[in-house]
Amino acid sequence: MSEKPDRNLAMELVRVTEAAALSAAHYMGLGNKEAGDQAAVDSMRAVLDTINLDGTIVIGEGEKDEAPMLYNGEKVGTGNPPAVDVAVDPVEGTRLLALGRPNATSVIAIAERHTMWNPGSSLYMKKIVVDRNAKDAIDISLSATANLHRIARALGRHVNELTVFVLDKPRHQHLIAEIRQSGARISIQTDGDVIGALMAAIPGTGVDVLMGTGGTPEGIIAAAAVKALNGGMQAMCDPQSEAEREKIMAEIGSDINKTLMLEDLIKADDAFFAATGITDGPFLEGVHYDRQGGVTTHSIVIRALSGSMRYVKGIHQLKRGLDFRRLDVKEAVEVATL
Ligand code: FBP
Repeated sequence: MSEKPDRNLAMELVRVTEAAALSAAHYMGLGNKEAGDQAAVDSMRAVLDTINLDGTIVIGEGEKDEAPMLYNGEKVGTGNPPAVDVAVDPVEGTRLLALGRPNATSVIAIAERHTMWNPGSSLYMKKIVVDRNAKDAIDISLSATANLHRIARALGRHVNELTVFVLDKPRHQHLIAEIRQSGARISIQTDGDVIGALMAAIPGTGVDVLMGTGGTPEGIIAAAAVKALNGGMQAMCDPQSEAEREKIMAEIGSDINKTLMLEDLIKADDAFFAATGITDGPFLEGVHYDRQGGVTTHSIVIRALSGSMRYVKGIHQLKRGLDFRRLDVKEAVEVATL
């Protein structure tokens, strides 16, 4: 058996995020962040174990003691080769799901073993993401204004024809003011910068650039997608507390200020990324229940080696007696793996 990840892995990964989305979807708007996340975690874990891989979770739900499943270091898959690093976010945007807002998504990324950057104690990182046409124009050490001018030049557009995705956080007050001053348009979103990165890395989505500071784990997952899309990304640790800074300093010293290039974040040439919408968003539709009792999912899967990007619409078959609006974990796994 091949030691390298096989192309079929891409389609298998869609089942993982489909199952997570199917079991999390009925928590939309119920105000309970934990319950939707737990359902997605359980389903994701169950489907992962049906896949032929020797996976190690490098970005999961946290440390073993706090996370009973999908904890960092946990082994997933059948245990057969290929050996891979696995990064998951069963619900990217737990608040979006709990409040019934757009863009809650289930995501997974896979790359050869020991090729994903280890976030260690880093919780937050500054990121910039663009598509393949502007990848040589970005430099995270420069100002937002300078980057926007360079990106506009690379894309053959004016700065005021660019749209920048930025998370709506107090830490971005100055960044947002600077982008406004530059003339670019801004899409200010409360959560979900993996989808922001994905949109920035795919030409024609309505988002041209992602800028600002978000979660480090989300940054690594996004990097797998950006790599697969041949887009451009740079990042840098951006601790949001003194305690976080001290811990990172103890681990990597002055590298805390290093620009992390896409190749540092994901060293492998091959990487896989899959995402399934939970709530509707401008980029991916969410889980839809139809009147006949069926359920439809919308996913994207990307592979770095081939550069192929597939949009997968899953129209899941009716099974007598199943209430598709209330699938429990076992049922969601069954629907996604049939
Ligand atoms: P969760 O799914 O863990 O709720 O993360 C949502 C998110 O908005 C990410 O997309 C983003 O990277 C991170 O949170 C930003 O963190 P914070 O809300 O603490 O600024």
